Amino acid sequence: MAAVRDIKAREMIEASDDGAVELAKRHLVQPWPYAGSVGAEARALIAEGDGVYITDAAGKRLIDGPAGMWCINVGHRREELAKVMYDQAMALSYNTPWYTMNAPSAELARRIADAAPGDLSHTFFTTGGSSAVETALRFMQFYNNVRGRPEKKLILSRGGAYHGSTYLSASLNGRPRDRDWMDGADELVVKLSSPDPFRRPKGMDVSAFTDFLVDQFRDAIARVGADRIGAFVGEPVQASGGVIVPPDGYLKRIREICRDNDILYVSDEVVTGFGRLGHVFASGDVFGIDPDMITFAKGVTSGYFPLGGVVISERLLEELRRSNHPDALFGHGLTYTSHPIGCAVALKNLDLLEEGVLAHTREIAPYFQARLKTLEELPLVGEVRGVGLMACIECVADRESKDPLQLDKDVGKRIDAHCHELGLLVRPLINMCVMSPPLIIGREQIDDMVAILREGISRTMDDLRKEGVWRG
Ligand SMILES: Cc1ncc(COP(=O)(O)O)c(C=O)c1O
Repeated sequence: MAAVRDIKAREMIEASDDGAVELAKRHLVQPWPYAGSVGAEARALIAEGDGVYITDAAGKRLIDGPAGMWCINVGHRREELAKVMYDQAMALSYNTPWYTMNAPSAELARRIADAAPGDLSHTFFTTGGSSAVETALRFMQFYNNVRGRPEKKLILSRGGAYHGSTYLSASLNGRPRDRDWMDGADELVVKLSSPDPFRRPKGMDVSAFTDFLVDQFRDAIARVGADRIGAFVGEPVQASGGVIVPPDGYLKRIREICRDNDILYVSDEVVTGFGRLGHVFASGDVFGIDPDMITFAKGVTSGYFPLGGVVISERLLEELRRSNHPDALFGHGLTYTSHPIGCAVALKNLDLLEEGVLAHTREIAPYFQARLKTLEELPLVGEVRGVGLMACIECVADRESKDPLQLDKDVGKRIDAHCHELGLLVRPLINMCVMSPPLIIGREQIDDMVAILREGISRTMDDLRKEGVWRG
């Protein structure tokens, strides 16, 4: 039994529950708050996790629909992972990466190179996804400075993208409300359309839409100049944008255009990496592309420790080594770069993935997608889409207009509230619900999840009808 189950620990959690909500409201600034509630907000208090379930402070057990934040890939309460962290902390809890190194990070970098596509051979470890994207972009800037192309720094990004919450990574974000009240390095970013087939222009088929996206990409390069563009950054599947699965062949064509124009292709696999699509990396194994860099985080430790990184092409490193500026300094590093506990737990997590979780994910994903797809029978649901073990239920006022329920901007939150009562945690996103459960989920648990969603959406439809904001 894990420690939290022993009576003393349990009593401590219970004793602290009442206080925690009040304390949070008085002292905690939580992520993504509105100005009106910043520093004064109570969110659902979660006390325990076990497998695909979490239990809230009131003792209610919920399926962890979003797997934390797309990250609890091998599930909660894995004793192997807890033990490895304990053992590593007792052996070496930390060493300075400035002028020393540790074995787990070197071994993890080798395992990542083995799994990565193309000539991606070296990893720079960070503390999470934002710092991984930030590192990739700062590396691109450094690379072009060393090559004597200081003007080649602009970054191509797309609507619907989410790349992080540090200044430069957040500047790439393409969801309007993420940026409305925030500043960014807009002068460095060229924005393109989201490759969202559901919201393609009316009357355009998917093949013509793909051509449109590719033409837009080419046109942007022609307009701005390839000599001014350093990188394209893109998620293989736009995750927080609503699980946007791009049209077939689109990523390959974008990759080729980047290669032809000497633009670095950065594949942001913070969500898709480490199992979500049944492979360590989706770029090569699912989409057939070999990026210049891949960023990752989240699933690399299944959320047990904050770790991320960027895998970099051997070719780029070799160019730097052979440059005319061997003494140019890449002035970038984090205190916790190559953290030994993070790397040790990532190694064990990778064992678990490779010893069965990846195969299980590939096997169960079609069932997961097919069962969720049945929710399209409900009139509020415009589309259910996804790949691997990530999916999105997008609600619309009606299927003809695809109006994302302008009258009620938070239909996702309404569904989440009903589902919480029924035993499922949902990730609400405006008019969408995102599902990305722990990869160890079984068929019965998928059935439970879908039944709860069906009931939660039905109750939401009733509410909306009663309030007169929807007539479906
Ligand atoms: C694709 C993608 N990139 C980057 C990030 C940022 O990662 P983090 O929150 O670990 O900084 C996220 C977070 O959700 C993400 O989904």
